[in-house]
Amino acid sequence: MAGHQTSRLHLTLLKAWHAWLAGAFLVAYVTAGEDAYAIHQFAGYAVLAAIAVRVVAGLLIPAPSPLRLPHPSWRATRDWLATRRGRHPLFALFAAALLAVVGLVAGSGALADGTPWFEDPHEAIAEASLWVIAGHVAFVTYMYAGKKWLKQITDRSAPGRHERAL
Ligand code: HEM
Ligand code: HEM
Repeated sequence: MAGHQTSRLHLTLLKAWHAWLAGAFLVAYVTAGEDAYAIHQFAGYAVLAAIAVRVVAGLLIPAPSPLRLPHPSWRATRDWLATRRGRHPLFALFAAALLAVVGLVAGSGALADGTPWFEDPHEAIAEASLWVIAGHVAFVTYMYAGKKWLKQITDRSAPGRHERAL
């Protein structure tokens, strides 16, 4: 029971952390450029802090917890491909890729803060990270909403549905 409650608390913390990360990233992205540099800097460092907190928490918190760092594994992917059961391996893969890419964006930004040479690489990594984020949003939307929606449509058009309903 206590374990269940802890896990729920950890999930809530993970959601709050996600809002912090995604919100700060959005602000940093829309304020990129010279006009709103102070806000860009503040939001960018908030992203960097979010990643640091996540990595430290993920390493310190004992298993099992949703706050443990994502752990993509080739073996889990192979097992999932063979059985199609359990958690989709792309969840862990996306989570690890996002933490790394968003960490690189914010890290290169911090370097660009003192060394102008880093400005171009920072901008390039920031633009590239949008593809990973778009893939992530498309994937979670499909897994949590799109799949249910598709099932409803296929159930509705499946032959014999009316007989079953009667
Ligand atoms: C993770 C969040 C971040 C995102 C999405 C992001 C995105 C961007 C983008 C797209 C640019 C290019 C702007 C342009 O020239 O049109 C840029 C520039 C820049 N960013 Fe960031 N950045 C982030 C974090 C940071 C951080 C933490 C810093 C540290 C202060 C930083 C410092 C800079 C600097 C110095 C430039 C060059 C500004 C200029 O062109 O004069 N960024 N950023
Ligand atoms: C509307 C936009 C977004 C939605 C709906 C969304 C939704 C989600 C969901 C549902 C998860 C949990 C997936 C699971 O069950 O494992 C997740 C995880 C994650 N998201 Fe997003 N997300 C969005 C935007 C973003 C953005 C902009 C970023 C990065 C700047 C981001 C970074 C992450 C990371 C790093 C994780 C993994 C968390 C962890 O386990 O460490 N997300 N997202």
